[in-house]
Amino acid sequence: MPDDRLDRCNTFGLPSRADRLVVARTEQALVGQLRRMASHEPLTVLGGGSNVVLRARLPGTVLLVRTRGMRLEVASDERVLLTAAAGERWHDLVRYSLGQGLGGLENLALIPGSAGAAPIQNIGAYGVELADRLVGLRAFDRASGKICRFDRTACAFGYRDSVFKSGAPGRYVILDVTLGLSTRPLLETGYPELRAELVAMGRVTPSPVDVAEAVVRVRRRKLPDPRRFGNAGSFFKNPIVTADAARRLRQANPGLVMHETPDGNMKLAAAQLIDRCGWKGRRQGAAGVWPRHALVLVNFGGAHAPDLLRLAEEIRRDVHARFGVDLVFEAQVLGQD
Ligand code: EPU
Repeated sequence: MPDDRLDRCNTFGLPSRADRLVVARTEQALVGQLRRMASHEPLTVLGGGSNVVLRARLPGTVLLVRTRGMRLEVASDERVLLTAAAGERWHDLVRYSLGQGLGGLENLALIPGSAGAAPIQNIGAYGVELADRLVGLRAFDRASGKICRFDRTACAFGYRDSVFKSGAPGRYVILDVTLGLSTRPLLETGYPELRAELVAMGRVTPSPVDVAEAVVRVRRRKLPDPRRFGNAGSFFKNPIVTADAARRLRQANPGLVMHETPDGNMKLAAAQLIDRCGWKGRRQGAAGVWPRHALVLVNFGGAHAPDLLRLAEEIRRDVHARFGVDLVFEAQVLGQD
């Protein structure tokens, strides 16, 4: 990295600078760097930078995790564990595992970002979440200065959430993740769009590779390629409301999409709420809402963090005024202007 600029280190392509930028290419370098820092020193750890809004300046140290390495370990007849260094690109893991004849990650194909970032927001798509596949991970604990292990329960996963994101933010730096894969996976093809794509591909009894291919096709069709249009995937989380509130909302707004959560609440589709407020495809200068998916905010070129945040706030305000629902950012806003 020639300088301290972060423009190319975030998929929104926002202009930003680090006070100090450090790139860690090995676990030894990563841990060494962390050990040299006091636990209270400001630190931002960036993987693929695909779920962040970077303001103009990131105070303190920005650590780019670029560690590499994947290994397989046979656990039983059908079960294989894949351990990947935090800096590996998530989609490379998906491709590698499929190439080894292993299923489990096919629904999570083409999600931007790194292996180490995946547990932080518990990435998910088309009926599968990282929490369904993660067996454990290793992390550096900045509070104790030690490396520790987390099993799945200790990660306290929730919808786009984990202990790393909301329980003890900034305390742990993930070093590697271990995923449970299978030579004879049970495929999850219940998501209507995925099923329709498999039918269109003529795959009646699909393989994991077919499912990944279908996911890639659906994603490419709906979501902008960050290399062409800066974005961070879904900008907002899908809001969760009580069953009562959902009933009232549906009465007043026929056709609202909602799904029951395991604890009896209802998850609404933020994209639909935004769409119904007329925001889909609208632009405000260089920031805008993707014309093919209302949950994706886009930097059409030259936007700064405040441009995107202004747009996001206006969307939040309109959705609240019309539906009484508070949208929460999925993307994390970092730094200062
Ligand atoms: N919809 C609209 N207008 C739109 C887009 C969608 O009305 O512009 C409606 C759709 O018709 C559908 C509903 O909203 O009924 C939900 O849309 P979609 O199926 O595209 O999924 P989503 O809830 O918007 C979530 C994840 C995505 C993930 C997809 C597929 C969140 C915040 N987003 O999106 O994850 O790929 O499901 O499983 O949970 C991400 O987190 O960055 C991400 C892309």
